[in-house]
Amino acid sequence: MLLGTQKINDKGHLMIGGCDVADLAAEYGTPLYVMDEEEIIAKCRAYRSALANYYGRAHAAYASKAFCTVGMCKLMNEEGMYLDVASAGELYTAKVAEFPSERIIFHGNNKSRFELEMAVAENVGFVVCDSFGEIEDLADIAAKAGKVQGVMLRVNPGVDPHTHSLIRTGQEDSKFGFNIHIGLAMKAVKAVLSHDSLNLLGLHCHVGSQLFEPTPFVQAAPIMTEFIKTVTAETGKVIEHLDMGGGLGVRYVESDNPLSVGEFVKLICDGVKAGVEATGIKMPTLLLEPGRSIVGEAGTTLYTVGAVKEVPVVEEPGRKYYLSVDGGLSDNPRPSLYDAVYTAEIANKMNEAADCVYTVSGKHCETDTLIPKTNLQKAERGDILAVLTTGAYNFAMASNYNRLPRPAVVFVSWGKSRIDVKRQTLEDLVLWDVK
Ligand code: LLP
Repeated sequence: MLLGTQKINDKGHLMIGGCDVADLAAEYGTPLYVMDEEEIIAKCRAYRSALANYYGRAHAAYASKAFCTVGMCKLMNEEGMYLDVASAGELYTAKVAEFPSERIIFHGNNKSRFELEMAVAENVGFVVCDSFGEIEDLADIAAKAGKVQGVMLRVNPGVDPHTHSLIRTGQEDSKFGFNIHIGLAMKAVKAVLSHDSLNLLGLHCHVGSQLFEPTPFVQAAPIMTEFIKTVTAETGKVIEHLDMGGGLGVRYVESDNPLSVGEFVKLICDGVKAGVEATGIKMPTLLLEPGRSIVGEAGTTLYTVGAVKEVPVVEEPGRKYYLSVDGGLSDNPRPSLYDAVYTAEIANKMNEAADCVYTVSGKHCETDTLIPKTNLQKAERGDILAVLTTGAYNFAMASNYNRLPRPAVVFVSWGKSRIDVKRQTLEDLVLWDVK
């Protein structure tokens, strides 16, 4: 499986963004997150042009939780994206990157007072309120600052996306959003409208993540447009923005078959336009918040192969082979958390037959399996193992478990590489410990 700009060169090495990954590993060390910048740019442009073609007044906001660095926020600004942040840390990263605050959407089901104060002070365009307490706090903070804060409300449309249970968010019993069906969403609209220091700009929903099946999006659109109609009927308020969240799945293994960005955007646009027509509401500005589908396939993690170990298989006669790499759970917790599946290649032997079966594991003091069973080229100590589709929620969810320094991040494009995040050092690991 080759993704984005990946190619195989005449040495049989994997190339990304015109760079030989063996050279990248030698220059920057491993583990290494390699981000295919051309692929990220292509995805941003695919979203923006599909939104312009199928809808018109619409914006794509990159959900920075998927991969948030100063360099990435700068790139998203250059590409004309909006930005979804979900914490003071993500907002601060955007600020350091000088991301225009009027294009920032601030999410979170439990924002602290500090975070709300920061949002108001930074003139964030949209704060997406997700609880009654937050509405009151935000109104108070904005009033004291003498400002009118733009607000969207996170609404729960009651749609079950049937993805992994830990990344479902649109179903009735989700912790996110004001439920429409039990009347809380309307109550929240009225709460926002009761404050002069808040300006209700729109409504938001996000049904879930890593979705291959378009049904949940198609179901959510008419629920949202119907609710907008009810809001205007009951309060007179015209809703100017509708944010349908993110959620498009990406290819982790060959058999994954996600919709293209264009197909996905068209489905949502058609759903919203049909809802607008059916209800007669004013056509809202449409927002989408893709995270994984912007960066997921652009990321590849390079590891150095260490121990290759033969063990007996307990259930049946035979042997099993462990291939251990110099990272694991700390740079990619997703297999352990979500049973996520990945594709790997021995990146310096791409033209050799992949006729060996390995269990790819990490170096942590537990069973940190990255890939339970995969066919690979015959591996030796010192080979480079590339794990594909690690651009989303890998660096973002990394830890220092076993005091492993976090890997560096490198952007590659048009034959050049540049460091985006430096590798942590051993000194960094004890920086905050009181000595
Ligand atoms: N908007 C909101 C409000 C969200 O909560 C999310 C993701 C997104 C947009 C972006 O969704 P995407 O396009 O990336 O599917 N850590 C999990 C994924 C958690 C997603 C959380 N919210 C994983 O590694 O699979």
